[in-house]
Amino acid sequence: MSHPLNIVVLAAGKGTRMRSELPKVLHRLAGRPLVQHVLDAASALAPSATCVVYGHGGDAVPQALAGRTLRFALQAPQLGTGHAVMQALPHIDAGAATLVLYGDVPLVRSQTLAPLVDAARGGALAVLTATLEDSQGYGRIVREDGAVRRIVEQKDASPAEQAIREINTGIMAIPAGRLNGWLGRLGNQNAQQEYYLTDLVALAVADGVDVVGLDLAEPWEVTGVNSPRQLAELERVAQRLEAERLMEAGVRLADPARIDVRGRLTVGRDVWIDVGCVFEGEVMLGDGVSVGPNCVIRDSRIGAATRIEAMSWMERATVGAEAVVGPYARLRPGTELADGAHVGNFVELKNSQVGAGSKINHLSYVGDATVGARVNIGAGTITCNYDGANKYRTTIGDDAFIGSDTQLVAPVKIGAGATIGAGSTITRDAPDEVLTLSRNKQYTVSGWKRPQKKG
Ligand code: UD1
Ligand code: CA
Repeated sequence: MSHPLNIVVLAAGKGTRMRSELPKVLHRLAGRPLVQHVLDAASALAPSATCVVYGHGGDAVPQALAGRTLRFALQAPQLGTGHAVMQALPHIDAGAATLVLYGDVPLVRSQTLAPLVDAARGGALAVLTATLEDSQGYGRIVREDGAVRRIVEQKDASPAEQAIREINTGIMAIPAGRLNGWLGRLGNQNAQQEYYLTDLVALAVADGVDVVGLDLAEPWEVTGVNSPRQLAELERVAQRLEAERLMEAGVRLADPARIDVRGRLTVGRDVWIDVGCVFEGEVMLGDGVSVGPNCVIRDSRIGAATRIEAMSWMERATVGAEAVVGPYARLRPGTELADGAHVGNFVELKNSQVGAGSKINHLSYVGDATVGARVNIGAGTITCNYDGANKYRTTIGDDAFIGSDTQLVAPVKIGAGATIGAGSTITRDAPDEVLTLSRNKQYTVSGWKRPQKKG
């Protein structure tokens, strides 16, 4: 590789203020772990090696990230950010520049990182800085005649240094061939008795290496997550960015502040999304799809010009073109609706295929069923697919008409063009084209009187 690059992601810290058993970097932002966002920004820089330094929470971090081409370094105990990078050394290439990122700073963008990497490739030590109204708690950038001389931590800073508003974001790029030597010279004689990565700046200055402080980031890009409150604030930022992305792609949002995307939402042209919708996992909306208010759509595909009406919920469902779903429909995993199908209010479907133009409009449960085309399933129809131990399929042929309040006791087959009389309990196969019903005869008791209240 012509420009090898190491990326080291620091993720060993405890995250005490999250007050959680889950390691901080595994808390979710926009549906994905914090560290995943960082790794996505990292991978856009095409690194030759990426090493995640983990510690607090044991193996939970490597387990959550399994399957990616990552290297992992355990840091135990956690003796500071410099000590954390030391643990990564055996896993990275000493002959490459190294970019250090924080696993709990999720929204940093690759275009903000690229100039730091360029500076390090040019032989400089590059630090991403920010200028804040309130710099309390951060490491301060100490400059002399404009040049960065060192970084001083809050707890070690003099009152004059505490007045500095330019802070260290923690993100740093180190030139090739320097990291091992500088880390070997770090001490821990400071207020926290930690090995500070920030001391690399003074070492570089002592060695005559250029140090550049780049103040390039939007404030939200370098905001870390330390508490549930900060996580919630960054979630709003992430959702605002996602809403802007969708609108740039042509989506009309009733209110960009009232949509939540927790995964990846792919959209066609002329999509409309009303307020309060939540999209989770991988969701695809075709051209001209409209989604009514307060819908939850998870890992599903919706075909062109389909309407999802208010308060509908679906997971791992596939809906064809020009279909209508809801209001108040529930499509459970394995539901496949063909083009032009209609599923109405208080209808639940599971593991069922529904053919083109078929209608299930009111108060039904259809599970483990294969429903043909142009079928009409009347109100209150239920597939009895479960006998308490096993599940069975119901098959309904094209053009069948199922009368209201029918129970189809599976396994059972309804023929093409069959009609089932309302209120039937169907336990045996019903033939094509004819009427089948099971119903007690209606009778009238003449002379019957309503009971009267006693005494
Ligand atoms: C660090 C910087 C400070 C900067 C601030 C930005 C140092 C010495 N200080 O301070 O200049 O302004 O970040 O937020 O670098 N971590 C480990 N192992 C450790 C310690 C930390 O992996 O032993 C990881 C944490 O998980 C976190 C990151 O490093 O992702 C920063 O740790 P944190 O304790 O928040 O650093 P600060 O002391 O706030
Ligand atoms: Ca921090």
